[in-house]
Order: sequence, then C-alpha cells, then structure tokens
Amino acid sequence: MAARTNSNRSFKIFAVTAIVAITGCASQTIQITPNEEEPVREERSKYGVTCHGPNLSEFQWRGPAGIISQSPQFRVHSQKLPMQRNQTGLLLVFETVKQEDVGGYFCTATGMDGRGHSISITLTVTKILEFDTPVEQTTNEYTDYTIKCRVKGTSNPTFMWSYNGLTLKEETENGKYSVVKGGLIVRNVTHLDSGKYTCRAFETTNKSSVSGSTVIELKVKHKPVFLSYMEGDPVDLYVFQSDSVNLTCQNSAEPAANMTWSFNGKFFINPADHYIVTFNRPEKLGSYTCAAANNLGKITRRFNLIEGFKPKTPKGLSAARVGDNYIELQVDPNDKEDELIGYRVEYVTRVVEPSGNTFESFDMMNFNTTEGPFALVNLKPNTEYITKILARNRAGNSEYTEPIVVRTSPEIVNSGAVAALSGGFLLGQLLTVIAGAGAGALFAARL
Ligand SMILES: *[C@@H]1O[C@H](CO)[C@@H](O)[C@H](O)[C@H]1NC(C)=O
Ligand SMILES: *[C@@H]1O[C@H](CO)[C@@H](O)[C@H](O)[C@H]1NC(C)=O
Ligand SMILES: *[C@@H]1O[C@H](CO)[C@@H](O)[C@H](O)[C@H]1NC(C)=O
Ligand SMILES: *[C@@H]1O[C@H](CO)[C@@H](O)[C@H](O)[C@H]1NC(C)=O
Ligand SMILES: *[C@@H]1O[C@H](CO)[C@@H](O)[C@H](O)[C@H]1NC(C)=O
Ligand SMILES: *[C@@H]1O[C@H](CO)[C@@H](O)[C@H](O)[C@H]1NC(C)=O
Ligand SMILES: *[C@@H]1O[C@H](CO)[C@@H](O)[C@H](O)[C@H]1NC(C)=O
Repeated sequence: MAARTNSNRSFKIFAVTAIVAITGCASQTIQITPNEEEPVREERSKYGVTCHGPNLSEFQWRGPAGIISQSPQFRVHSQKLPMQRNQTGLLLVFETVKQEDVGGYFCTATGMDGRGHSISITLTVTKILEFDTPVEQTTNEYTDYTIKCRVKGTSNPTFMWSYNGLTLKEETENGKYSVVKGGLIVRNVTHLDSGKYTCRAFETTNKSSVSGSTVIELKVKHKPVFLSYMEGDPVDLYVFQSDSVNLTCQNSAEPAANMTWSFNGKFFINPADHYIVTFNRPEKLGSYTCAAANNLGKITRRFNLIEGFKPKTPKGLSAARVGDNYIELQVDPNDKEDELIGYRVEYVTRVVEPSGNTFESFDMMNFNTTEGPFALVNLKPNTEYITKILARNRAGNSEYTEPIVVRTSPEIVNSGAVAALSGGFLLGQLLTVIAGAGAGALFAARL
C-alpha cells in the first residue's frame, strides 16, 4: 500500500490506471498501460504511457530519434515509476504532442534471468484544424452577408456555428441563417446581428475526429442608435438639491460615434456617452443636449434638468370599501402644486403555512392615477393587511403615511356586500375605527 500511495502522489494520472491493469494480468511479463498499441493523439495534447512488468529491471524507452532521456527538461522524456507487487516500470511522457512525434516507440527491459523483454507502440498524431479566416469581418446593414470560415489545407470538414446560444448546423435552413461551405449566410443584416460567432469544423477520419473552432466578430456598419429609450423630447429630469443625475446617451454605432455635448446652447467638452450633473448651484439647471455621430448619421437627445420637489405625504388614508378579496383605499387629495402622477401602496400580511411557520408577505402596487379609490385585489378573506401609501410625482416620491390595518371580510359574507364606512362597521364584521389622531388617520380592523 505504501508503494501505491507513493505512486499516486507522484504520477496521479498514469499510475492509477496502471495499477488496475497490473492486478488484472499479473502473469504477463512486459506490458503497457494504457494498453493501446496504436495510440492516436491530438496535436498539443498531453500523452503518457507506462511500460512495466514483474521482476524486471533496466527499462528503457526508444523512439524514432533514439533513446529517450530520463531528464524531465525534455518535452518527450521518460521517468521511473515505483509500483506495487515487485513491479517496476518506466513512464514515457509527451508533455505536448507534436506532429514530429509520429512513429514507433519501443520499451525494453531485462528479467531476473537476464533475458530481454520488449514491447512497442505506434503513435499517430492528428492535427487540430486550423483556420484561414479573418477573425473580424465587417458588413453594411440591410444586405445578406456570408461570414467566412475556412479551414487551412486540403481537408473537407463539416461546419457548425453558434451565435447567442443558437446552434446552426449544415442542414439549418431558415429565413435568417444558412450554413454553407465556407461560411454562414446571415440575411438582411442589421446592427443587432453584430457580435461574436463561433465557427466549428469537424473532420472524421477512420481513427479519430479532428476538430477546431474559431471566434469571428461580425461588425455591422450602422448609424448610432441609443441603447435605451427615454420618454419626451426634451426628456424631463428632476434633481434634488446636492443630488446628481446621470444624463445617458449610451449608443451603439459602427464605427464608434463621436460625442458632442452642449448646455443651454454652449458646447462643452465631454467625450463620454454620459454626463453626470450635480445640482449644487441653480445655474446647473437647464437644457443639456448630446449628439452621437459617425459617418453614417447623427442622433441627438435633449434633457431638461428641473429642480425636483417631493410631494407632501398624503393625508386621510382610509378604507373606502372592503370585500372578501379586495380592499379599496382612499386619501384626501394633495395640493395641486405637488403635480402628482399617482400613488404607491404597500401592503403586508402575515401568512401562516400549513406547517405552522409564519412569514410576512409583502406587496406593492403603483397607481398611475390620482383619482381614488385604489383597489388592492386578489386578497385573502378574513385577513389583516397592514397598508400604507405614498404620493408620486415626476420628481420622486413622498414619505409613506403611517400604516393602517384593514381586515378583509370572511368568505361566507356575500362579496357583493358593500362595506360602507358610515357607521364604522357593517354586519359587525367590518372596520372599526379605533383612532383618528391628527394627520394620517389610523384605522384598525377587528372582527
Ligand atoms: C518475482 O520474484 C520473486 C522472488 O524471486 C518471486 O517470488 C516471484 O514469484 C516473482 N514474481 C513473478 C510474477 O514472477
Ligand atoms: C518481492 O520480491 C522480494 C524478493 O526480491 C520478495 O521477498 C517479496 O515477497 C516480493 N513481494 C511480492 C509482493 O511479490
Ligand atoms: C430588412 O430588415 C429591415 C428592418 O428589420 C426591414 O425594414 C426590411 O424590410 C428588411 N428587408 C428585407 C429585404 O427583408
Ligand atoms: C480509412 O478506411 C478506408 C476503408 O475503410 C481505407 O481505404 C482508407 O485508407 C482508410 N484511411 C486511413 C487514413 O486510414
Ligand atoms: C452613468 O450612466 C452610464 C451609462 O449611460 C454608466 O456607464 C455610468 O456608470 C453611469 N455613472 C454613474 C456614476 O452612475
Ligand atoms: C470623430 O472624431 C475624430 C477625432 O476627433 C475625427 O477624426 C472624426 O472625423 C470624427 N468623426 C465624425 C463622424 O465626426
Ligand atoms: C403604471 O405605469 C407604469 C409605467 O408607466 C407601468 O409599468 C405600470 O404597469 C402602470 N401601473 C398600472 C397599475 O397601470
């Protein structure tokens, strides 16, 4: 066992297979592991073969160019390999297989009786396919383009392409792509087709499959296009005192676009596709313009930088109607100058799983209207919801109100029943007003 441990440590890859083989056929005199007399190996791969036998000594490997050195500085060398059961062996190593290594290799050893033993292998080296193709190819938009991919030499391989997770084989024939000898046809190329395409080539011979791959970058000439859509021309951007805002003009263009920027009609230098403005002085507010241009065209985007103001926190949050699966909330209208665009409601409930575990289920709903009531739907019957609301304008959000607790009605109640708040309760099952202390009236629900 000691020998095994030792050999495992020194020759991890080869010794393990060797031991398996030895126990299998210990009676033979000299053998090789792996037991392949005509190994076929790919160029640039690593290859090792061990020659071993019981009670043998004076091992030696000899190749087409003579005796193989045991000195590890050679790319092809041999090294002694201690083994169990009185076996000894000599490992032949090709650190990286080259074309010139093809040929016969002989291992010789001497037995205890002085007799010579030998065994041989014939190594075949297969080529990795090499490509004769530009790794960057450029075309124009709205034409069909064949991305070229050719293999060096006289071989006649099969091609396969991949792009964006899509695999295209030789039979592939759809409206957009066709795999043909020498390339991939991409029809009606647009800038969205630009990117990295992988071309794989395979050639199957009697003994092995030879393959190779190369990555080709397709560049599609196009005029600049903004990467993100922004509503409005100019785009209204709100910024609070001492906050920053990122004016983004990120774009796709081939060749890359030149950026020009101006503020209130005056050009300023900024080669980047974005510009960060910090609102620390009133003079920073105003009209910013960016332009992205290449030889195919130019696009511009205008921003209107406006001082932001928070809307006031809404008041008078209450439940207008409650059903077994919905709650309708209402608030007092905000002042006109808050320029509201809507509200946001957050509602939380405690969920009890069948296992008895409880957790808080959190939901949020945006309303794009300032007109109430604001309905929360698909709720559970007879369940408490802790709800709060904030007001939204173009600049941002107000603070949330204090939460109110609202309980949905039990399922047995006809959900058509209207939960009027008039008296504070209906059928004894609906809302009971507990407190209405000042702003943000607090409601709690009880059965
Ligand atoms: C190796 O030599 C030893 C000692 O001479 C002997 O006992 C053993 O049988 C030999 N093993 C084989 C496989 O010949
Ligand atoms: C190895 O060989 C020695 C003698 O050379 C012998 O005493 C020993 O038993 C052998 N061990 C095995 C496992 O064959
Ligand atoms: C090519 O694509 C563009 C945009 O996707 C489209 O407008 C045009 O009609 C297409 N041309 C052909 C020949 O299919
Ligand atoms: C492959 O096999 C065919 C017959 O099956 C033979 O004619 C040909 O020479 C073989 N090629 C190689 C490279 O061994
Ligand atoms: C500003 O936006 C651009 C994209 O347009 C981004 O690359 C950049 O990191 C952003 N800068 C900051 C500080 O957020
Ligand atoms: C972009 O800028 C470079 C360097 O300033 C200039 O040589 C080139 O002509 C410009 N291209 C366009 C389309 O304006
Ligand atoms: C509110 O508007 C946003 C975008 O403008 C949209 O994503 C959202 O679905 C709208 N919400 C409702 C409740 O209509």
